[in-house]
Amino acid sequence: MNQKLEHDLQHLPEILQATLKAANAFLEGVADRPAAVRPHAPEAQGLTDEGLGFEGALQAFKTRWEPGFSGSAGPRYLGFVTGGATPAALAGDWLTSAYDQNAADAASSNVADLESETIKMLCDLFGLPEGFTGSFVTGATISNFVGLALGRQWIADKHGRDAAQDGLYGLPLIKVLSGAAHSSTFKALSMLGMGRANLTRIPTLKDREAVDLNALRRALEQQDGQACIVVANAGTVNTVDFDDLSGIADLKQEFDFWLHTDAAFGGFAAISPRFAHLTRGLERSDSVCIDAHKWLNVPYDAAMQFTRHRALQARVFQNSAAYLGPLDLENPGLVHLTPENSRRLRALPAWFALQAYGRDGHREIVERNCDAARDLGEKIEHSSAFKLLAPVRMNVVCFTLAGNPDQTRVSSFIEGLRDAGQVFLTPTVLHGVPSLRAAFSNWRTQGSDVEIAWQSMLEIAQKIL
Ligand SMILES: Cc1ncc(COP(=O)(O)O)c(C=O)c1O
Repeated sequence: MNQKLEHDLQHLPEILQATLKAANAFLEGVADRPAAVRPHAPEAQGLTDEGLGFEGALQAFKTRWEPGFSGSAGPRYLGFVTGGATPAALAGDWLTSAYDQNAADAASSNVADLESETIKMLCDLFGLPEGFTGSFVTGATISNFVGLALGRQWIADKHGRDAAQDGLYGLPLIKVLSGAAHSSTFKALSMLGMGRANLTRIPTLKDREAVDLNALRRALEQQDGQACIVVANAGTVNTVDFDDLSGIADLKQEFDFWLHTDAAFGGFAAISPRFAHLTRGLERSDSVCIDAHKWLNVPYDAAMQFTRHRALQARVFQNSAAYLGPLDLENPGLVHLTPENSRRLRALPAWFALQAYGRDGHREIVERNCDAARDLGEKIEHSSAFKLLAPVRMNVVCFTLAGNPDQTRVSSFIEGLRDAGQVFLTPTVLHGVPSLRAAFSNWRTQGSDVEIAWQSMLEIAQKIL
């Protein structure tokens, strides 16, 4: 064995202790660390022949890279929709690496059953009834990809074709209809060979990001009886708006379409009685995307794809090979269900989180985050420095600067805030207006964090006036 490897093998307990110490030091200070830092890569360093050994690598990481890491695991990183990692989820994630099981291998362990148990708990959490199955993927983008791949296969079947087997050649164009689809839907369409341009944007309700049902009905009528795909959006990134999921599902009685719902983080509305009405009808989707690394607060990278059409799914994603054993379409293994073959046991952090905190713990995170967003929204509404652009429905506050909110001023404000280090927000454009989003999804965030963020926002707004 290589000398450095041999050394590290002999000192594995000390290595794990040192790792624990480093992680602890980071997490103990995460609330005081800058929420974000100006990106600056250290001087490049290449591969050496002899290697540094673990201690050298840890030292190099701490001195060269760690100072440039953000506080995205902390309470005031409000960019994108970034959850953190609850203690149990983090522990589950560490053990995932330590045990290093291949979730796709159903022949030599019970790990696939652990994933099934986790999926069942998640179906229960989100109100997805019997008949739904699911599996873990890397993120909502791939979850949307899987849902759309299923829709594509379902439509090809209607034309007597097998898209997985024969490709899209000779098939009529597959139309996709959606209101305010997330950018990842367009990316998925690109990867699936269905084309970004073949998504028809259906008008949304006035001043909303929720689809206009009448406009959707008209678009469906124009399909002349050809089956298509409808992507419903349950929680848009700018304003957390929800399509009327039941209303869309009702249209299935008149029109032939596959209903995929992107509920990447909006799906978490289902777990709180305050918001559950927003996801009514979710259970009537053919496929559903929900992220775990957002509001379940498990580490990146984990999302779920759910569907009521598992046999169809296995036809699309089957990975048949003699050395993998026969494929049972009625009871396919994980290797036959998603884009990946071999993969880590992504379910374990979620399993730990669900076991540790149950329904109540996760509901409390969602409700506390939404309270924080409402609080910030109220401050903005009553301030002369900012303008609220949409009602705060759940966990995102969409607003802009008072006066002339041009792109330059919005960018300077965001950079100023980032450099001050107290809070991190990301930009967007809402109905043509350059604006900002404050997205609350971290389990650590408290009311006092809103106050700290608010003071910093006022200071920076003052400076750039
Ligand atoms: C509604 C929605 N769908 C999909 C995605 C893509 O998620 P991911 O980055 O996990 O692939 C996001 C990310 O913010 C989202 O908000």
